[in-house]
Amino acid sequence: MGFDGTALAGKRIVVTGAGRGIGRACAATCARLGAQVIAVARTAADLDSLAAESAGKIEVWVNDVASDELAERIRGLDSLNGLINNAGTNRVGPMADQSAENLDAVLALNVRAVYRIAQAALSPMRRAGGGSIVNMSSQMGHVGSPGRTLYCMSKHAVEGLTRAMAVELAEEGIRVNSVAPTFVLTPLTEPMLENPEFAEWVMGMIPMKKLATPEDVANACVFLLSDLSASTTGTSLRVDGGWTAR
Ligand SMILES: NC(=O)c1ccc[n+]([C@@H]2O[C@H](COP(=O)([O-])OP(=O)(O)OC[C@H]3O[C@@H](n4cnc5c(N)ncnc54)[C@H](OP(=O)(O)O)[C@@H]3O)[C@@H](O)[C@H]2O)c1
Repeated sequence: MGFDGTALAGKRIVVTGAGRGIGRACAATCARLGAQVIAVARTAADLDSLAAESAGKIEVWVNDVASDELAERIRGLDSLNGLINNAGTNRVGPMADQSAENLDAVLALNVRAVYRIAQAALSPMRRAGGGSIVNMSSQMGHVGSPGRTLYCMSKHAVEGLTRAMAVELAEEGIRVNSVAPTFVLTPLTEPMLENPEFAEWVMGMIPMKKLATPEDVANACVFLLSDLSASTTGTSLRVDGGWTAR
């Protein structure tokens, strides 16, 4: 089951945070479906193994999403059809205990870098005559949750950015959407989900009683990057098993 191999044929797509977790599944899936993928992360070994395992075409860029170097590299592409703006992080804890360092780290990666990478993608997308940007949000971009003031704040910002970009860029044929997953087992969430009480709370919150998989999230991205979603912009595609429908 899945999209056929032509869903993204011929499209050049940048995936950030592609070394592990959700971004890795997105990069692998896009490549399998015919895209020329540029996979970005800071750890070369992760990206090299991704490219080696891939059935499709994956170019490895070892860069920090917060760097000017990556923004310039993306801006300099002759054309670009898609971006999965995925790299992100979390610092969990009660608001009263959150440090200034945690505040800066979450905003720098989840908001500032997402903005700057999306901004850099506009030039090569304009040269391509349009494009599709998928910002990786979260169910926490739609609701609040204990211990997650920083994360929820940052993902609500991603939702706001997505809508504002969608309106501003619509006439140029650049569509902008977000994908909002529930919990997915990745290196980011493994330490949280190893706690049985936390895992039980999570399952209690998800009407479908299951975590989303990285592939579930990748398939949502594929739809938004493909021409099958040609009239969809400014929306948030929730892959959340019903968490936010309550
Ligand atoms: N997992 C979940 O339950 C879940 C749910 C909803 C939303 N999300 C969102 O989905 C996205 C991915 O989450 P994940 O769970 O897959 O995370 P993850 O397992 O921690 O993987 C993050 C990836 O991003 C890369 N990365 C981190 N900082 C980077 C930087 N400064 N520059 C370039 N690459 C960087 C990491 O590689 P390097 O460290 O080598 O750079 C890694 O490849 C995030 O935006 C997250 O908020 C996750």
